[in-house]
Amino acid sequence: MTTRSWAEPYKIKMVEHLRMTTFAERERAIAEAGYNTFLLRSEDVYIDLLTDSGTAAMSDRQWAGLMVGDEAYAGSRNFYHLEDAVRRYYGYKNLIPTHQGRGAEHLLSQICIKDGDVVPGNMYFTTTKLHQELAGGRFRDVIIDEAHDPASEHPFKGNVDLDKMRRLIEEVGAERIPYLSLETNVNMAGGQPCSMENIKAVCALCHEHGINVFLDATRAVENSLFIKEREDGYADKTVENILLEICSHTDGCTMSAKKDSLVNIGGFLALNDDALAEKARNLVVIYEGLQTYGGMAGRDMEAMAIGIGESVQFEHIHARVGQVEYLGHKLIDAGVPVVRPIGGHGVFLDAQAFLPHVPRDQYPAQALAAALYVDSGVRSMERGAVSAGRDPVTGENIFPKLELVRLTLPRRVYTQAHMDVTIESIVSLFEHPERICGLRFDYEPEHLRFFQSRFKPVDGDLVLRAAKGEKVGALHS
Ligand code: F0G
Repeated sequence: MTTRSWAEPYKIKMVEHLRMTTFAERERAIAEAGYNTFLLRSEDVYIDLLTDSGTAAMSDRQWAGLMVGDEAYAGSRNFYHLEDAVRRYYGYKNLIPTHQGRGAEHLLSQICIKDGDVVPGNMYFTTTKLHQELAGGRFRDVIIDEAHDPASEHPFKGNVDLDKMRRLIEEVGAERIPYLSLETNVNMAGGQPCSMENIKAVCALCHEHGINVFLDATRAVENSLFIKEREDGYADKTVENILLEICSHTDGCTMSAKKDSLVNIGGFLALNDDALAEKARNLVVIYEGLQTYGGMAGRDMEAMAIGIGESVQFEHIHARVGQVEYLGHKLIDAGVPVVRPIGGHGVFLDAQAFLPHVPRDQYPAQALAAALYVDSGVRSMERGAVSAGRDPVTGENIFPKLELVRLTLPRRVYTQAHMDVTIESIVSLFEHPERICGLRFDYEPEHLRFFQSRFKPVDGDLVLRAAKGEKVGALHS
């Protein structure tokens, strides 16, 4: 029997026009942006794979939900809809809404972390780690070693290494560990999932020592699909039930609803413990807004409540992850070095293998992201040394094992043809990697430097040296 193709479980009702640019215009735009794709104007971008955060296309039902926004300052009906959705699909008792994920991370860090505490996590996320440090904590990576190896085919590279966690408890004592931050579908590892078996075991270990486990549930629905597809005993369970089971082992979560939940803004902190939730409610009114809106408009909470329900539908999540896999497998077929297996929200190019002639301190991933933009107007993002920043104690650059360029797919936004254009551009760069030179810092801000840093090419010339004047990216040169 031949395999049949599948297609998206939706059709397009409204379109947004994109501006086509020339090679020369893109060269100028990236130079003006200091070779940092975060500093490009979105109007100069053709296919925007910078992030899957807040970039989803909402459904007609979500847009309709905006019209029933209750913009009362206190007790908005949409808050109660959202509370119902979080309880039903995530299973946590107390909901504290926030403007986005980092708002929830801020609250959680402030209410739980004391000066000198150590906060373990399965790889860091930029904002999560910074909030932990600003609250006086130190981050400790307890992810399995395979997560740092782009070529490892381990099906659950997001797993916590139980021995690393045990050793940390012995080393610093359980009383110095306020909680474990457990990320599902670990972003910085390439969108790699945790297995249910590992989630259960790590939660049992932590609870045995009186340590809470808080989920970073930002991409927990994508993780649930991988459990269904890869873990024994889960093939016949629904994504909805798997998500509930993941959450049931933990004590609460921080959530950036701008990802899984299919909205353009919003987040929440959810906690089972009433006393802890009380502390969070006391803080949310200082930093975000009243406890029944937390920085969101009523209509945004309604769109989120509807989006959460849509996010766990099998057809949706299967098509979402399937599009990422389409992009990833085409690149693998062309021999392009990418993080294996293909993750849930994006494809991650291994920039060190792609540009072996560019040394780490010339930021190969930053240079590759800039070059991809110049070639075809595709915007991607550096996830390597620039994102990792400096050691807060020594001030030295941190060079993580992974030096990646992330091609992140917005949900329900781009077509297969957009993927094909992206693939052709990457493959053409890969055929002549020597055209791309490294970068050095021109301006480096103190916190989360990847957002605002500016760079200059090391040899003073353009990123695509030999391509100067040449027509690359046949598309819109
Ligand atoms: N946790 C994870 C795993 C994330 O990926 C993000 C955001 C956050 C927390 C913070 O949430 O942006 O709503 O404040 N990730 C985005 C990205 C920015 O592009 O990966 P936020």
